[in-house]
Formats: sequence, C-alpha cells, structure tokens
Amino acid sequence: MGMIARTGIPLKWVSSIKTLQQRSFHVNVIVNQTVADITIKNLKTNYNGNKKDLSRELDGFLKRHIGPSPTDIQRMLSTLKYDDLSTFISNVIPKNVLQMKPLKLNAPDLGYTEQEMLKELNKIANLNNFKVKNLIGKGYYGTILPPVIQRNLLENPQWYTSYTPYQPEISQGRLESLLNFQTIITELTGLPIANASLLDEGTAAGEAMLLSFHQLKGKKKVYLIDSKVHKQTKSVLKTRAIPMNIEIKEVDTNNLTGIKEQLAEDNVSGILIQYPATDGSINSLDNLKQLSQLIHDKKGLVSVASDLMALTLLNPPSQFNADIVLGSSQRFGVPMGFGGPHAAFFSVTTKLSRRIPGRIVGVTKDRLGKQAYRLALQTREQHIKRDKATSNICTAQALLANIAAMFVVYHGPQGLRNISERIYAMTSILAKFINSEASDFKILNGNWFDTLTIKLPDNLNTNEILDKALKTYNTNLYKVDNNTVSLSVDETVTQENLENLIKLFAKDSNVDLKSETSQFIEFPTELKRTDNYLNQDVFNTYHNETAMLRYMTRLQMRDLSLANSMIPLGSCTMKLNATTEMIPITWPQFANIHPFQPRSQVNGYYELINSLEHDLCEITGFDDISLQPNAGAQGEFSGLRVLTSYLKDQGQTHRNICLIPVSAHGTNPASAAMCGLKVVPIACLKNGSLDLADLKAKAEQYNDSLAAVMITYPSTYGLYEPGIKDAIDIVHENGGQVYLDGANMNAQLGLTSPGFLGADVCHLNLHKTFAIPHGGGGPGVGAIGVKSHLQPFLPGHDITKIDSASDKSIDAVCSSAFGNSLVLPISFAFIKMLGNQGVPFVSSIAILNANYLVQRLKDHYKILFISEEDKISDHCAHEFIIDLREFKEQHVEAIDIAKRLQDYGFHAPTLAFPVPGTLMVEPTESEDLNELNRFVDAMISIRGEIDDFVKGDPKGMVLKNAPHSLEDLLVSEDWDTRGYTREHAAYPLPFLKQNKFWPVVTRVDDRYGDMNLMCTCPSVEEVAGSQK
Ligand SMILES: Cc1ncc(COP(=O)(O)O)c(C=O)c1O
Repeated sequence: MGMIARTGIPLKWVSSIKTLQQRSFHVNVIVNQTVADITIKNLKTNYNGNKKDLSRELDGFLKRHIGPSPTDIQRMLSTLKYDDLSTFISNVIPKNVLQMKPLKLNAPDLGYTEQEMLKELNKIANLNNFKVKNLIGKGYYGTILPPVIQRNLLENPQWYTSYTPYQPEISQGRLESLLNFQTIITELTGLPIANASLLDEGTAAGEAMLLSFHQLKGKKKVYLIDSKVHKQTKSVLKTRAIPMNIEIKEVDTNNLTGIKEQLAEDNVSGILIQYPATDGSINSLDNLKQLSQLIHDKKGLVSVASDLMALTLLNPPSQFNADIVLGSSQRFGVPMGFGGPHAAFFSVTTKLSRRIPGRIVGVTKDRLGKQAYRLALQTREQHIKRDKATSNICTAQALLANIAAMFVVYHGPQGLRNISERIYAMTSILAKFINSEASDFKILNGNWFDTLTIKLPDNLNTNEILDKALKTYNTNLYKVDNNTVSLSVDETVTQENLENLIKLFAKDSNVDLKSETSQFIEFPTELKRTDNYLNQDVFNTYHNETAMLRYMTRLQMRDLSLANSMIPLGSCTMKLNATTEMIPITWPQFANIHPFQPRSQVNGYYELINSLEHDLCEITGFDDISLQPNAGAQGEFSGLRVLTSYLKDQGQTHRNICLIPVSAHGTNPASAAMCGLKVVPIACLKNGSLDLADLKAKAEQYNDSLAAVMITYPSTYGLYEPGIKDAIDIVHENGGQVYLDGANMNAQLGLTSPGFLGADVCHLNLHKTFAIPHGGGGPGVGAIGVKSHLQPFLPGHDITKIDSASDKSIDAVCSSAFGNSLVLPISFAFIKMLGNQGVPFVSSIAILNANYLVQRLKDHYKILFISEEDKISDHCAHEFIIDLREFKEQHVEAIDIAKRLQDYGFHAPTLAFPVPGTLMVEPTESEDLNELNRFVDAMISIRGEIDDFVKGDPKGMVLKNAPHSLEDLLVSEDWDTRGYTREHAAYPLPFLKQNKFWPVVTRVDDRYGDMNLMCTCPSVEEVAGSQK
C-alpha cells in the first residue's frame, strides 16, 4: 500500500515530515546514537533541560508525564538492587527481545514542550476548513454541544479518565448516566432493551446482521438490505459478511412483491431498513408493517437503522414491529470530529435481551437494600464466549453516550421536539422553494425529515453546484452522482443559511423568509408519533444551567477516576491523559469537520494522521498503519481480516486455523471466530510461559491449514517470555501469519517492538498505551500496524479518500475512514511531546513501577509466576498478578479484597483476568512513588485483615462488608455486632482522614439484578413504589 520512497519511508509521509520539520524548533535527531539511552543521567537531562541552552523552554513534558522523580527512581532501583535504569531494563527484558533502536520520530529529539505542542497543533488544525457550513448529512450532522456539558463533562477528567464501570460501587455516577442513555434509546425507538453504546452506526449494523444470522443458527445465508442504507454502512456490512459467507442482497423496500420473491427460497435471516432513508425519504408505516410481517413469517429479524432526532417526531420502529433498532447518537451534542468518536445505539425486543451485544447497565440493590446500578447480565462480555462468540465488542463509546444522554437531560422531551420541529420546518421551507416555479431543480424524495435529494437541471453538473455552494455560500453539500446532490438540515442551521440555500436553488434571489419562518410547519400526521416519551423526572428537571451543572457534578462525585487515585487495572494501562493532549479535541478546527468533506478541506487532519502513522510505524517496527479501527477488538477483527485477505490473494483460502494461547483475552478468539477462523487453543506452562512444545505440535499438525497465531506480548500474565521469537518462527515455518495483540505495548515503547519480534500484524490500543483516556468505557482507537506484504489489504473507504488505499484494500471496518479521528491529536501530542529521547522512558518506568510494587508486596502476597520455583524470570513486565487463591479455602475471595480496596480509596486491579481468583496490577509510568507506596500500604493493611478473617477474628468481617458507604456508617444499626469499628471501616490508614473517597452504595447484589432485569430508568410509579 502506498509507494515507498527511496529512504524507506512511504511517500505519503514525506511531505508531512518536511512540513513538520520546517516548522519545528528543535528537530535535532542524534545521528550517532546507536542505542536508546535510558540511563538516569539521560533522564535527568530530559527532565531539567540543558540549563546552558537558553533556546530550550522549560515546560518539557517528560517530567509531567512520568510519575517518579529521578531521585525516587534511584531509590526504587536501589530497593530492587540495581544502580541504573538501563541495567535494570537489560535484566528484565530477554536479550533476544531487547532492541532499543534509537527512534526517529517526526518530532524534536527531546520532544515539543507543552506550549510548543499547542502552537504546532494549532497550525495543523488551521489547515482544516472548519468555518464551512456542512450540510453533507449521511449520518453526521452539525449539532450544538451545550457549553455546560462541554466544560463539565467532555473536558472534565472526572468523566473522561474513569474506566468501564466494572466496580459499580465507585461508578454510580456514570452508570446512572448510561442508564439515562439506555432509557432515551428505548423511549425513542420503542423497544424495551438497549445497550450502553456500540462503536458506530456501521458496526452496529454489522452486529444486527450477525445477530440475525446467529439466531437462526447460521442456516440462512442471505441478508437483505434496503438499497437506501447509508453507503458507508453497506461497506461495513460487506466486511462483516464475507467471513461468515453471508450473501448481502439490496432490495427496494417499497417493492414488496420483489421482497416476497427474495423470501421464497427461505434463506433470508433478516433485513436492515434505513428509516428515514439515506435519500431522506420515509417509508409509510403501512408498507413497513407489511414488510416486517413478510420477514417475520420466515423467522427473520427486522433491523432498522434510524436517527434519534427524527424519532422525536417520527413513529417509532416498534410500531412496525422492528426487532432491532440501531444508529448513531452523534447529533445529540457530539461534534462530528471527522467521523468519530460517536456513540452508536442498539435496542432490541425482550426476546433478544440475552443476545444483545455490548454492555447493559441494570438496576439492582446493594447490601443494605438501596437501589444501585451495575453492568447487568454479567455484561462484562456476555457475548464474548471465546470461539462461540457472536460479537467481540469490548470498549465502546461510553463518554459519547454520556454526552448524548446529558444533551437530552438538558433539553428534555419538549426541547428535543423544538429542535426537530425547527429542522423539519426549515427543510420544508427549502423544499417548497426548490419545488416552486422559481427553481429548475427537483426534489427526488417525496417526503422527508431533514434531508432533500435534489436532481439538477440538465445544464448543470454536480461539481458545478458544489463549487458554487462552497464559493458563494461557504456551504458543503453531498454529491450523490453527476447530476444529483443531497443536503441535510441540522440544529445549527440559521435563517441566513436557509436564505443562502434558497438562493442557490431558486432563480429568484430576492427571498423574504420572514413570513415563512414565523411559524412552524406541522410534521405530516401519518408519519408523526403520538405517544408521550421521556416522562421520567431526570429528563424534566435540569433545564437551567445551574441545575444541570449540579446534576453532572453530583454524578461525577460518585465516580472514582484518575482524578482521585491510581487505577491499577492490569491490561488497561490507565496512565496520565495530559491536559495539553486533551485541549485540541474541542477546538472547532478539529471538532467541526464532517468525515465526507472534500480532501482539499481537511489538510490538517491528513497531516496529523500521516505524521502519527509515521511515528507509530517507527515505534512498532511496522511498514504501515491503519487508524480506522475504533477499539482494540475492532483492531483484532481488522487485522485478521487483512491477514485472511492476504492469504486469499495468495491462493491459501484453505488456511483457516488460528492458534490462541489459553491465557488470551476473550476478544482474541471472538475476533478469530468472527473472521471465520477455527480456534485451536495452545497450552501455557505452570510457570506462565507459552507451551512451545504444544505450539509446535499444533502448528505442525495443522501445517496445511494454519492461518495465524494470536499472541499477546508481553503475555497477559505480565511476563516477557524469552521464547517469543521461537514461537513466531514456529508459526512462520508452518506457513502461518503472526498476529500480536498490542494491549501490552506499554511494555515495549522504544525497548523492543512487534515488528522487530517478527509479527506480521498487531493492533495498538491508543486508548491505553498512547494516552487516549478510557472515557468510562470508550472511546478507543485500535490502530493496526502491518508488515509490507499486508499493506495492500489495509481497510479502504468508499467515500473518504485514504491516500494509501489500493485495489486490494478490504472494505471499511467502520463507518468513517479514520475511525475515531477526533481523539487522534491526543496520541499525536503524547508521542511528540516525549520525543525520541522520552518515549523509551515511558516503558522503562512502567516496568520499574510494576517491579517496585512486586518487591514491596512479595512478602505479603504470592505473586503469580514470579514466586514459582520454576519461574522464567525474577521480574514482571509492566504488570503482575497477585494470587489470592490460597485464601479461597478460608472463604476469602479476590472480590473481597477488590471491594475493600475501595474503602482505601483505590480502584481494584483487574479481577479474575487472566486467572480466576487473582488481581492483576498495572501501575503505569504516571504514578509517583507516594501513590505507589499508598497502594502498598493499603494492600499490606488488607493482608492483616485477611489474616484476621482466617483466624476467625470478627474484625476480619470488614472484608466481607466492604465497601462501606457513609450511609452504612451513619444509619446501619448493627454496628455493635459487627466486630469492627466504624473508624476501622472508613479510616483503616491515617492518610484517609485527609483524603477519603466515599462509595455511595455498599456492595451491590449482581444476582438479584440479573434475576430482576431492569435496564431503563425506573418510571415515576416504580420510584414511588421503591420509596414506600
Ligand atoms: C489483551 C487485550 N486484548 C484486547 C482487548 C480489547 O480491547 P478493546 O477493549 O479496546 O476492544 C483488551 C481490553 O482490555 C485486552 O486487555
């Protein structure tokens, strides 16, 4: 993919490298350096700058990003009995793995300072045409993000730095907000169960297709789609259909006779209808009911891709018996951002509640019987059932779902109706002018909500009208074909915009709109919904800014985020998401860009993307990168699709076996299954290393059919396995490709790389390693890196130009060409502020922090694999596993420790992955020595409580009752019998008296919630009932 320049750098990057270097102040790559310098001496230079060099400003980033100071690092190294960081690292990482090649990033050697970075990003951002009026539509619309939500949610680390709410007691705020989101979706679509977001509309449509396919056990291989589905959605569906051998057939949903013919063979699993359609038209309720009946008669499922804004006026799809409704909630306040991130929604009928992909927030009660929220149906991954998986969705779009939910909380049902009625009225006024004698244009859709598809007069071609719209009225329309355009009116359209459009399409340019806009035009009765919706208190209370601010603040205070304390979740890399990195994402230059704006208007994004791709290639040792996948698991699917397409191109379609170690993350086998690969497990040895003998035996056994191996490195057990290169060789020798899961890339930066190790493809979680915040469950970016033989197969896009796409590119894996583009400036800034010298310190300190914790905890807890007799190393990588299984017999469970940590103000480490009964700890490089020591103190103190429990001392019950809410302390009447004091419950260590995070509920009852599934806001009656 892409032409390679003589320097070995793909040509597409050369221009952007030049531009950046011309602009930058301190691009001085050290030519003579042969290995990366990770000595403390170099760290100090980076930290303090060269005091003799006055040109170097002092707001360097490394000292802000790395937690421990050089002095603390020295102290930690002495605890570990090392004198320097470089000797420590060369002892931790096996010799054949350590590379330490000096990096040549597209950035100053010591990195940009924070202020330089903002200036640089601002210059890049200004290359985007962000002042143009985008009426392109097709799933992306202008919207007004209410400033109170922008500042207090989107720009607020309390919201954006939290993790997926797996620990519900310290996540009640965002769980409530996500429940609001689900309620909005169920109310507007009319279906009773909704999830808490998917990745985007295209991938949600893919989930609907697969759900339809699997519910009929894969027996019906044809899937119908409305010919008027958005183009990008069709492309994603194709990508998903191929590995399952699903045949997609486009149909005209108005031609019921044609559809009956399609159904005659009884091989159709369902249909996807776009409502309103991509051309703006709206199918009649009558027709849709008949269509639905035809599909249901054949046991198929009816899925509807819809638009929430339209649904505030339009009959909900439940009225024509849809089984699944999906779409994007972008236009509820979320900036277009060149295509993402936006939260997709997905709702289903009750009978599909156990099949819905993604996470569902549900209502349950806590130990004291108080209402509490948590992820329902163990949706920690209910659908990811290894190779039986029907979906691999893990990280979704929680932050964006929260924005959309707050948009509705702020506007309320009447506010939403006002917005949509205004949109409809403006569209209708414009339509009236276009259909009048004063215009030579003709509207092709007979009805509409916000979109008009317009046939041009014979003497005009599309490029001419697009040009005129842009040059004269600063407006972008959508090119349908050579003599058709379309436009979509949105919340941001002003009277002036409307006048411009009328002038563009009508001959008479003296338009007086005053009389037209002085009244609203009624939405057609036959299309209009008549029910009342969103009557719950939460949508009818917070409509002034003071109330709204307080509501959001109330919720944020219930959530523990990185703004409170370390979140040491193994495999999640919860590091600093620096403010400087975050600032640009709300700049209009990045936020107000439509993904289908012409290439010439988005030079800033292309420069950013090309330069980021270059740096990621440099760091990973790959030849090209695709930023399209919008989460890690999506990256896995994309990487495997690229790989299987390559095999097909080589005439190797018979290769369909994917070897996966038993220790793998659940998404690995799920993604392999979704790519039509057969999963064969590989054993791990008792010491945690991959069983190379088993790998070799299986690779040889399946020599003829081996497609790939999927390995995480360092392993999910947090170990640098010395055998990794042998494992890779074994697979290559047997004709397979190597997929490396890059979730643990934070242990590789500048020290080794997947490319160096020999991987062919790897996904990176930019939302872990490269500083994009987790957002309480998304957004993510699951970029994939590939070696040159796979380059031609990287995902393409049907509408947006990807410079390096080829005729072999696979179809899109998600709706927009560069996935969650709006968050890319974060990773861009992260890398470029660290620079060549800073990047290797990230991983070095992450590894040091983890090993320091091991050293301090190993006398109190068994550290899995490192305490074993036949251990492969004395050191962990960037994370390690505390083994609590020995306490199980004494009835102390890992979950008790996880919950008790909340009383100490900490988020629990990863519970039960990759080994049940354990906690996996990943401190990251951003935590300083004080925080690490506080965590150690908490764990040691808990160890004492475990001992109390095991001894039968009633004090130990503190573990079983954890966490303790303030209400428990103040109101519970059983304190005399508990065996421990209130003070011990709340303040087991002195620091807590200064800084205490209070869980607002006590331990939640998962079983109760699953048995009494409730995943929308309670109605007024239910609230009243529960208060009695
Ligand atoms: C090892 C590993 N692989 C893949 C994933 C999936 O990534 P995502 O949640 O971004 O889809 C994770 C997520 O935690 C992971 O830990």
